[in-house]
Amino acid sequence: MAKCIAFFLTTMCLVSVLTAADWNIMNQKLKSTKSGLQITLKNYCEGWRMNVELNNIRDFTVVPAECTSYIGKYMSGSQFKIDSEATIDECTLYLNTLCDLKKDGKDSWIFDIDDTLLSTVPYYKKHNYGGEALNVTALEEWMSKGKGTVMDYSLGLYNYIKKRGIQIILVSSRKEHLRDATIDNLVDAGYYGWKSLYLRSDDNEFRTVQEYKTSVRTELIANGYRILGILGDQWSSIRGVPTARRTFKLPNSLYYVA
Ligand SMILES: *[C@@H]1O[C@H](CO)[C@@H](O)[C@H](O)[C@H]1NC(C)=O
Repeated sequence: MAKCIAFFLTTMCLVSVLTAADWNIMNQKLKSTKSGLQITLKNYCEGWRMNVELNNIRDFTVVPAECTSYIGKYMSGSQFKIDSEATIDECTLYLNTLCDLKKDGKDSWIFDIDDTLLSTVPYYKKHNYGGEALNVTALEEWMSKGKGTVMDYSLGLYNYIKKRGIQIILVSSRKEHLRDATIDNLVDAGYYGWKSLYLRSDDNEFRTVQEYKTSVRTELIANGYRILGILGDQWSSIRGVPTARRTFKLPNSLYYVA
């Protein structure tokens, strides 16, 4: 026990010395904090990440240079998995309260694809964890090779929803020209049996992804679907009218899609 505490304290000291050294480059920001709290770079980056999730920080094109290491560790580490699994647990809890399913083929659930069903973290790992401006050509090249990796907790939810007889609708901001590669990637990862797969037309007919996704929901509702829930990793997947009965957002601080 004493050993543990000693180890803990030593580690803490080492960590604070290291981060204090790293943090020197950030001194100006440190001084400008109103509360005058002594904060580490990790505190600063976690504050950034949290405010991305809260949708307070919007339209960022790159992860701040001083935070790419922190965000990379978060997105590829256990905390991201724990946070995501907590999201999935809430989806399951909600689904278990639904006693009024009509089972007429119109109960439906919407999923995003990237960083909801398939992870793009392997791509971003090679691009400084969001620290580089998006290169659509490079990202689409990667997608065309079907390299998105399965997010296993999402697969569990996907299969549960399917088992409950709820129609699965995939709505992605990927472009039509990636349809075959996307289907192959999904099936390889274990996802099959969806009702429809919406991709964005290659001619960019909508100004924003949010407009495109709300227009898909409008169409679904016009066709009699009841949208019980949405699971996505971007606010643009769940905001806007019409929406769903409940919406759930997975964490993602690598990029922002408006
Ligand atoms: C974007 O990616 C493509 C394909 O990998 C590459 O040829 C091109 O140079 C990149 N563009 C920039 C601006 O980095």
